[in-house]
Amino acid sequence: MPVQNYPRVWHNGAFIPWEDARVHVASHVISYASCLFEGIRCYQTPHGPALFRLKEHTQRLMDSCKIYRIALDYSPEQLEQAMVDLVRVNEAPHCYIRPVVLRGYGEVGVNPLNNPVEIYLLAWKWGRYLGEDSLTRGVDVCFSTWQRMAPNTLPAMAKSAANYMNSQLIKMEALTNGYAEAIALDTAGNVSEASGANVFAVRHGKLFTTPLTSAVLPGITRDTVITLAQEMGLAVFEQALPRELFYIADEVFFCGTAAEITPVRSIDRIKIGSGEPGPITRRLQERYLAVVEGRREDHYGWLTFCNQPAAAAR
Ligand SMILES: Cc1ncc(COP(=O)(O)O)c(C=O)c1O
Repeated sequence: MPVQNYPRVWHNGAFIPWEDARVHVASHVISYASCLFEGIRCYQTPHGPALFRLKEHTQRLMDSCKIYRIALDYSPEQLEQAMVDLVRVNEAPHCYIRPVVLRGYGEVGVNPLNNPVEIYLLAWKWGRYLGEDSLTRGVDVCFSTWQRMAPNTLPAMAKSAANYMNSQLIKMEALTNGYAEAIALDTAGNVSEASGANVFAVRHGKLFTTPLTSAVLPGITRDTVITLAQEMGLAVFEQALPRELFYIADEVFFCGTAAEITPVRSIDRIKIGSGEPGPITRRLQERYLAVVEGRREDHYGWLTFCNQPAAAAR
């Protein structure tokens, strides 16, 4: 499906038309994947469009850049304001924002340090990531034959374009074999994450998710789920998890900015629980959607309302 983009793009401090947001094919990013990016959803709320966990996404972008020795010319606050402005100038009632930091046109060798750093903020409309009815009906998935990155190879904590070559292999294998998504293991054989989402298992009323040492992106939705689950009195364990725990779990779900909270109804054709979205997944999903859509009190200051004056935008 073609991208349903909003027309204005923020580039290095100025707004430009979508059509002009281009890079030369000789740019460093093209050959060497020198790109760090983010994905942030802006939801329609009763008080206008609101970005969900803008501060944390901006911080993760800064962290990704730091790992790759990129010093940005903009402070986190300036980038946050630019994203609020992006929503406003596009008059977007809701959108997905893709901040992109890349190494641009200049030298053509591997050394990235002399190439210019460019920042783009793009916005488009994005529905349910794994299919229109995925949140209500759940999805059928598999374990991938591909593993996530070995420690000390490509840093999993950085949201880098290079890591998504691995994600693409995982995703293509899943789709080719008739699954909506796949879960990859880490190089120790423990469960890691899906190609574009973190994963949770529920067993005997307790939640389990994989730790940062299992080559996962430190998901902001994962953190949101942990917080909401604890609020609901559920115990959450972050630990190395074996593949088979997921087969015998009562419930399994994915979480991510794009995937939101998507129930998993089978893995490798093994039914998870009853094969329907389970009660804990449903409760967490309801609470999550109520928070992001501004239908529940924002105890944690997670929403940034875009239609308010700048000083009050958080
Ligand atoms: C590989 C991967 N893991 C996990 C996530 C979930 O991260 P977040 O909840 O911050 O969107 C994503 C989504 O961006 C992802 O691409």
